[in-house]
Amino acid sequence: MQDGRTTLSKFLINTLDRKSSPIAASGLSALLIDVAASIKTISAALTRGALGGNYGSAETVNTHGEEQKKLDIATNDIFLQHCEWDGLLAGMVSEEMDEVYAIPDTWPRGEYLLAFDPLDGSSNIDINGVVGSIFSVLRVTGEPHDAGVSDAAFLRPGHEQVAAGYAIYGPSTMLVLSVGNGTHGFTLERDVGNFVLTHSDIRIPEDSCEFAINASNERFWEPPVRRYVQECKDGRSGCRTRDFNMRWIASMVAEVHRILMRGGVFMYPRDFKTPAMEGRLRLLYEASPMSFLVEQAGGLAITGRERILDVVPRALHQRVPVILGSKNEVARIGRYHSEYDRGADKPYTSPLFNERSLFLPEAPA
Ligand code: F6P
Repeated sequence: MQDGRTTLSKFLINTLDRKSSPIAASGLSALLIDVAASIKTISAALTRGALGGNYGSAETVNTHGEEQKKLDIATNDIFLQHCEWDGLLAGMVSEEMDEVYAIPDTWPRGEYLLAFDPLDGSSNIDINGVVGSIFSVLRVTGEPHDAGVSDAAFLRPGHEQVAAGYAIYGPSTMLVLSVGNGTHGFTLERDVGNFVLTHSDIRIPEDSCEFAINASNERFWEPPVRRYVQECKDGRSGCRTRDFNMRWIASMVAEVHRILMRGGVFMYPRDFKTPAMEGRLRLLYEASPMSFLVEQAGGLAITGRERILDVVPRALHQRVPVILGSKNEVARIGRYHSEYDRGADKPYTSPLFNERSLFLPEAPA
């Protein structure tokens, strides 16, 4: 007897297993159920807060030189334990591990690759703020995977992902997922332990008046980003002729979730704070899966100069500039980058003209 609600397993059976595609027989839905089990376990651990004995620093650093918190390591282990055994994976990569995690010999190996950030925005833990987990699933191509996989297997552009998603641990825990047929949100029914479809086929509004960027880095931004943000700040008296609002939660998951719910733009652009770094966010397990979800919801995701899903990774932990969200706003920022690169933006970025100058030609819409 149907109760009218769609649980995650029902959704996956209907969307993947009952379709006559190669994915149907490949176990992708079983893998996603294991990922969801990791998320439920992490959610339960986070809910215990300081009482769980997992607060504070682990006194180690990850591959990016960032201090690891005890929870970074605990949540990483939860993903490994839930996903290594099922015979569906050839290897895993995570923000918290320097190298590809080989599936132990105890377990069979499969044809999928899982890349994940087990605890995104972990600086928010200390303030009981919103955090998340992000994951990306690729299918092995080419090389035989019975003996495990090398880094090269993971270095695929994001448009090849077969599934991507995130969990947001806020007042409620949600799993937001795409297997390539739209972006869908499931809310965890804590007392029962089910993820229930509550946000079917999420669509990002094409226009918006909200942006998110760490403004303390302003002096390191490139001119096209400065131009965009300045125009937003000028509000209704500037060339955009409307007021904008700004948000910064310091958790990419929380920013992307807000954008999926009501539109907006999130930027961690290229900057010159650390010239050796191309961007701040990691391509494989942050930018790529989030871009997949945003595009599946009708938004855009770019580095400023190219579509993030077309970037071919050169290294497991590569960083990339990220500008994503409402289609028309992201396209505008992309246009500002190309005008800057062609030297065609001088009237808008020259220090001789401020944005409200009488001498400023009318800004293109
Ligand atoms: O490491 C990723 C991350 O925590 C993102 O989730 C977030 O958007 C960003 O870093 C926060 O950066 P900042 O420390 O500059 O506010």
